[in-house]
Amino acid sequence: MTLLKIAQIGNPILRQKARTITAEELASPGIQRFIDDLVETMHDANGAGLAAIQVYRPIRICALEVKDNPRYPYKPNIPLTILVNPVLTPVGDERFENYEGCLSVPDLRGKVWRHAEVRVQAQDRHGQPIDMVARGITAGTYQHECDHLDGKLFVDLVHDPTTFTTWKEFARYREAEVREHVSAIVARYGS
Ligand code: NI
Repeated sequence: MTLLKIAQIGNPILRQKARTITAEELASPGIQRFIDDLVETMHDANGAGLAAIQVYRPIRICALEVKDNPRYPYKPNIPLTILVNPVLTPVGDERFENYEGCLSVPDLRGKVWRHAEVRVQAQDRHGQPIDMVARGITAGTYQHECDHLDGKLFVDLVHDPTTFTTWKEFARYREAEVREHVSAIVARYGS
């Protein structure tokens, strides 16, 4: 497997709209190897998710996994999930605000609003349909990753710039409060 280079904010590729991939492409050994590399790269960088476009492949594939993540110690776990051509649809009107970071935005976090529940329709890496509802913090992670496929970054959604913080200052000044806030969201939505 190969570790891939992660594009950083300012690189125009992050602002492209990724293209849909066909069933034939998905089944090809090249794309299957690429998905393995995407997962390996996400693990190596301790990401909660990674979209193909972040590693210079503007196709509609992203990976998510949270397993006692050191970058986000308070995030509920998400099993390894590969989304191909995902479509997200908000369920209901509830939203919550929470801090996000991104492997393409070094050392910065900021507060964004996310839908509390989203329907996720996609294919898995074998082309099998996925149709589920993601809730709470996990729903936020799905929205963050799928935004990448449309050239959007979390910084675009930060409506209050005074919430921007480096990771060090986040740990110093905000993490304790955010842990409580996240616990309340997890208690409400189950994830
Ligand atoms: Ni990101």
